[in-house]
Amino acid sequence: MHAIGIDIGGTKIAGALVDEFGTILRSERTPTTAGDPRAIEDAVVEMIQKLAVGEDVIAAGVAAAGFIDSAQSTVYYAPNINWRNEPLRATLEERLNLPILIENDANAAGWAEFCFGAGQVYSDMVTLTIGTGVGGAIVSNDRLFRGGFGCGAELGHVRIVPDGLPCGCGAQGCIEQYGSGRALLRIANSLADAGGIGLGLASARARKGKLSGKDVGRLIQDGDPGALAALRQLGDALGQACASLAAVLDPQIFVFGGGVADAGELLLEPIRTAYLENLPARGYHPEAEFAIAQLVNDAGVVGAADLARKHVFPV
Ligand code: BGC
Ligand code: NA
Ligand code: ZN
Repeated sequence: MHAIGIDIGGTKIAGALVDEFGTILRSERTPTTAGDPRAIEDAVVEMIQKLAVGEDVIAAGVAAAGFIDSAQSTVYYAPNINWRNEPLRATLEERLNLPILIENDANAAGWAEFCFGAGQVYSDMVTLTIGTGVGGAIVSNDRLFRGGFGCGAELGHVRIVPDGLPCGCGAQGCIEQYGSGRALLRIANSLADAGGIGLGLASARARKGKLSGKDVGRLIQDGDPGALAALRQLGDALGQACASLAAVLDPQIFVFGGGVADAGELLLEPIRTAYLENLPARGYHPEAEFAIAQLVNDAGVVGAADLARKHVFPV
């Protein structure tokens, strides 16, 4: 039985037709204007119609970067997209005549990793998706955790710095401000301003006018000391957050996805170090595993499709 998964990101919408083993049979991708909810809706409708042509599709799951209600219908709030109480499910079902399930993007990606990727052999897993924002997914005792209002596992908005940097969620000092792709860029720019170790970053910035996430990623791969220092700062913040999350959730594994996770072991190493240094009951509490997501860019669509299928046909 096939289901469709859609993943709405800040810069693109990805979609796929997926079977019950998480295999992608067909996929689509289109750029998006993140500021315009109507344009996003039109693009999603068009993409689902395209993917469904000639297929027996039972449902579509739509992964969206925001706080979703427990009915999995409405996006209450999206820090980085212009959605406020957006009734996404109703609008899409009306236009498509197909069961639709709205899911938080990081929940969808984490679920895919749990079912088909890095989390397969564990019962308790935390996923952090490090992109524009920081997304979270919690699997506890083999179940995806949603909380009482549907918007639990918003791990990017756990406060790690009292009265810290303002966040798109309206609060201050959130993990997202210290551990996201945007935070990496902010740190890289301040190292470039300072000179010294940041000279490589400064000259890349001078050449291009401004630094992009891609530039920093390339400098990391080239072993530039400034870019590596920026990544280390990011990893340090994320590792400290993981130590606290361990006190609450006690996962066997932390999985890292999103664009910044392309850095691989270079990201995991400082995370693991900070986690071990700050772990409550360190030396006695068993150490969690740290891994990079295996489904990479496909996690969101695969997870959204799987959750939608299981919602229509619970197993
Ligand atoms: C949002 C989450 C989302 C994450 C990753 C955060 O800013 O609050 O809902 O999962 O970004 O896209
Ligand atoms: Na989440
Ligand atoms: Zn926040």
